Order: sequence, then C-alpha cells, then structure tokens
Amino acid sequence: MVGYAYAVLFRKRPAYRYTAKHSIYVHHEQLGRGVGRRLLQELIDACAAAGFRQMIGYIDADNAPSLALHEKFGFARAGLLCGVAYRHGRWSDTVMVQRSLGAGTTAPPPVTASGR
Ligand SMILES: CC(C)(COP(=O)(O)OP(=O)(O)OC[C@H]1O[C@@H](n2cnc3c(N)ncnc32)[C@H](O)[C@@H]1OP(=O)(O)O)[C@@H](O)C(=O)NCCC(=O)NCCS
Repeated sequence: MVGYAYAVLFRKRPAYRYTAKHSIYVHHEQLGRGVGRRLLQELIDACAAAGFRQMIGYIDADNAPSLALHEKFGFARAGLLCGVAYRHGRWSDTVMVQRSLGAGTTAPPPVTASGR
C-alpha cells in the first residue's frame, strides 16, 4: 500500500448529508511521486459521483505539502481553528479547507422518494 484516502459524512445530522469530510495519507517512502494527487482526484470524483456537493478537509496549519495539494485541487481556506491540537510539545492550529462538487450550491439536491 502506498497511501489511502477516504471520506465520511461531515456531520451525522440529515441536513449535512450532502457534505463530506475527507482524509488522505501517503506512505512516507512514497511522498512526492504523485500518489497524493491521484488519490485526491479519485476521491473528489467518487464524492461527486456519490452526490456530495461540498468537501471539507482539516489540515494542520504547518502542513505545507497538504495545504499546497488541496489548493491545487481547488480547495479554499474556509477557516482557522486555533490551538485545537497538541503535539510535539506545542499547540497547533488547524486550517479548514473546502471545495464544492458538481452543481455545488447553485441548484437544490435531487428530490428523493422521501421528498426531503
Ligand atoms: C499531503 C500528502 C498527501 C501529499 O502526497 P504526495 O503523494 O507526496 O503528493 P504529490 O506527490 O501527489 O504532490 C501533489 C502536490 O502536493 C503538493 N506537495 C507535495 N509535496 C509537497 C512538499 N513537500 N512541499 C510543498 N508542496 C508539496 C504540491 O502542490 C504537489 O504538486 P506538484 O507536484 O505539481 O508540485 C502527503 O504529504 C502526506 O500524506 N502527508 C502526511 C499525511 C498528511 O499530512 N495528510 C493530510 C492530512 S489533511
């Protein structure tokens, strides 16, 4: 395995069912070889195909490679969570990144059998 990526529901309440939260990890011996780019493209395509309209990622503010990767794929910085992580003896900030998928917010979701 050279890496993995996955998405889950952003929040469990029904109103958030069109928003996914994702993670992506590449094996440390495989960094910088295009694996992350391929994983993220596949994940974006899969989330769009599944009907999600927004993707959200949480990235450590010091994680320049991940911030650059997400910026390259159209994710915008949506917020900064200050001091939410403690690692290596210090508090770390987290950047929230977001991009829309498919029609995004320009059209309502398809009508389902339940009519919601
Ligand atoms: C972020 C991560 C997934 C990138 O994976 P990768 O396979 O090394 O990335 P790629 O080789 O596909 O590079 C894609 C883009 O990412 C960015 N990038 C990758 N490594 C970078 C680095 N060291 N510095 C700056 N930008 C970098 C670049 O924009 C790059 O595009 P380019 O090759 O056209 O310059 C990888 O560093 C990783 O798994 N890190 C540890 C776990 C992690 O931080 N996950 C993200 C949590 S949100």
